[in-house]
Amino acid sequence: MNFDYSGSRTDVMFGRGRRDEAGELTARYGDEALVVTTRNAMQDAGFLDDVLTSLEGAGVNATVFEDVQPNPTVENVVDAADAGGDADAVVALGGGSPMDVSKATAISLATFDGTPTAEGIWGYVSGERSMQDALPVVAVPSTSGTGSHVDPWSVVTYTEENAKVGFGGDVLVPRAAVVDPEIADEMPASLTARTGFDAFCHLNESYVAKGADALTDAHALRGMDLVNRHLRRSVEGSSGSRDAMAVADTLAGFCETTSGVVATHAVAHSISAFGHDVAHGDALASVASEVARYNVENGDDETKRRYGEIAETLGAPIADRKLDAHLVVDAVDELVADLGLQASVGELVDASPQTLAENAVTYMGTALRNNPIEVDEEDVADIIENAY
Ligand SMILES: [Fe+2]
Repeated sequence: MNFDYSGSRTDVMFGRGRRDEAGELTARYGDEALVVTTRNAMQDAGFLDDVLTSLEGAGVNATVFEDVQPNPTVENVVDAADAGGDADAVVALGGGSPMDVSKATAISLATFDGTPTAEGIWGYVSGERSMQDALPVVAVPSTSGTGSHVDPWSVVTYTEENAKVGFGGDVLVPRAAVVDPEIADEMPASLTARTGFDAFCHLNESYVAKGADALTDAHALRGMDLVNRHLRRSVEGSSGSRDAMAVADTLAGFCETTSGVVATHAVAHSISAFGHDVAHGDALASVASEVARYNVENGDDETKRRYGEIAETLGAPIADRKLDAHLVVDAVDELVADLGLQASVGELVDASPQTLAENAVTYMGTALRNNPIEVDEEDVADIIENAY
């Protein structure tokens, strides 16, 4: 065994009511903060006010940008950066989209002279701009699913190119994260289901990824165990289970930091690139079991064994992990059905399997190369066809 391991560098403050510490944490970096969030039921529950009170108490002036869109575009980042002015830090409050916009804004504010442009921000994704610096980000996640509060990734959509792409680097890792499950208590059931399934995908994809290592494995297996025991109950509203899912999500973020995602996320991003309103969790749920089927059918012994272990973690009757690995397909389908996320790819988006596969290869090649089994465009199209 031989591996290098660099885990997440985020300070994690976990506990009910700890959103009140966001101000103190932000004050480490200066006295001007841009709070990036989205107006929704969770903010209406008073969490934005709580964070603003905390910032004020710590002597930090806050400017609020609350127009984050689902599947945020680079133009959305331009607007947030425009509101940012001379912020010393960015506070990300909400689900995956505010996290994505916060990180992209943090790097834009630190590296552009004047207001950034959409093309300029796309330069981070295309590799034309270097990511040498970013404002510190303090993350206060509201959902238990993105892992973004402890990982280096931002995902933005460039509508002109039908591209939804992740980009990232060490400068984008939030300096601190306040994980306060009281916020997750206010999540509607459908959002809990979708974001929880996203966490499950981060965990299971990391576990089979080419980039997997023995330390990430420990996080992934524990995370999947928590998902199996708590995601359904979390959807039903159990507070204890929402605490457990917040832990699973944080473990999933560690896994994304170290091992990354595979073909499931590659295809899911291409679905949302063409269907701008398609929730990430729905896109993942539409292809997850077919990616697992492909990888088991074409995988080597180690890949099969790992899928067998995932199935076992989900409660499938596994006698031999390698020989029974195919049971993962039904186990994932069962979880998807229990969560009410059964929409097929064709029901979610009006784009052909070939078009989606081409997009995934163009924009999510890193994730496809991280898949345990080599996949070319035709293979990806076949997987999508089976899930259509
Ligand atoms: Fe994800």
